[in-house]
Amino acid sequence: MKLEIDERQLSLEIEALAAISDVEPPAVTRIVFTPTDLKARDWMISRCKEAGLAVRQDAIGNIFARWNGTEPTAPAVGTGSHIDAIPNAGKYDGVVGVLGGLEAIRALQRSGFRPKNSIELLVFATEEPTRFGIGCLGSRLLSGTLSAEAAAKLKDRDGESVDEVRRKAGFNGILQHVKLPKGYYKGFVELHIEQGPLLERAQISLGIVTSIAAPASLRISIEGAGGHAGGVLMPDRKDALCAAAELILAVENAARSSGTVDTVATVGVCDVFPGAVNSIPSRVGMTLDIRDTDLARRDGAMQTIERASRDIAAKRQVSIQSELLNADAPADCAPEVRAALAESCRQHGFSFLEMVSRAYHDSLFISRIAPTGMLFIPCRNGYSHRPDEYAAPDDIARGALVLAESLAKLSGSSQ
Ligand code: GLV
Ligand code: MN
Ligand code: MN
Repeated sequence: MKLEIDERQLSLEIEALAAISDVEPPAVTRIVFTPTDLKARDWMISRCKEAGLAVRQDAIGNIFARWNGTEPTAPAVGTGSHIDAIPNAGKYDGVVGVLGGLEAIRALQRSGFRPKNSIELLVFATEEPTRFGIGCLGSRLLSGTLSAEAAAKLKDRDGESVDEVRRKAGFNGILQHVKLPKGYYKGFVELHIEQGPLLERAQISLGIVTSIAAPASLRISIEGAGGHAGGVLMPDRKDALCAAAELILAVENAARSSGTVDTVATVGVCDVFPGAVNSIPSRVGMTLDIRDTDLARRDGAMQTIERASRDIAAKRQVSIQSELLNADAPADCAPEVRAALAESCRQHGFSFLEMVSRAYHDSLFISRIAPTGMLFIPCRNGYSHRPDEYAAPDDIARGALVLAESLAKLSGSSQ
């Protein structure tokens, strides 16, 4: 089997998808179920149909594009990622796995390969937590990690529920039916940019993921007392933003003092009310994102933050409430998928590094229901979630080639 990735076509498609965005290039913003996201999804579905794939969408908007194998009722071999993008993101996060996956399928088709098990491209809905506060909603539902009832009730910042928003976007199916039947996938492989600097620094072509770190996130509300910035003297204040500032530093400290660099914690949202120059902040809404490769250590850091929060609330006489949005366990990648990826790398003489994924991915949840692996390609300076995110076309093509060969291996040929 001689496989050739069409690097030029793949680059053109990445550029075309990046142009479907709510902000000026090179930045990309594509929040799930906005008109821009819906346009990108239509564009993606057209590309899949052009490749002769059978397309269906489920009730949360996961897109499945299937190349039927000679044993069409046998479990499929899956690949894919996401096309939603956080505000002011880059072009490659998620997209490389979706368009790279499509190109891997097209390369297999051009080579004359005929799959035994069907090969399916999966475009996961709402991987990013921007809109509903929780990441990987599509794969949580597919894997049954989150119930349809709980998912339907999640709300966006405007107070609209997942159920309302998805219906307005035209997804009226039954959410309970999103969960995949047992044994749906024989194996799953996600191609993704590394989102860290290790491959580039070590000048290694590809990363084979061994495990995916455990993410957790919380919404924190701080309530103090507002008032006139001139009239209220310092001893009388219950400034919610000052309490938030202390808590943010406590978050940083909890991660820094865990004894390893593997604990990371971030406050990425801090909404101040009323947000006027001469008014003492009475309310602050913030988010906490905390991750670790070790579940117990992550939970330990969360407890440290919880204790700090109680102390700060008592000292500053404010109320601090936190709502846990998710606290997921880490996942190990499947030996058979890792072996397929490694074998392909060795055959081509591509160097590879076995590494942990510190970012989360839909594969974290798909790994609960199928043998799953991930392949990383380098990205410049490790930049991601920013407009200057960049992956070189030849690196992307190399990843798509190894992906294609691994999908072929997992599917088996009918010839
Ligand atoms: C995914 O986008 C993550 O935040 O890890
Ligand atoms: Mn992302
Ligand atoms: Mn991603």
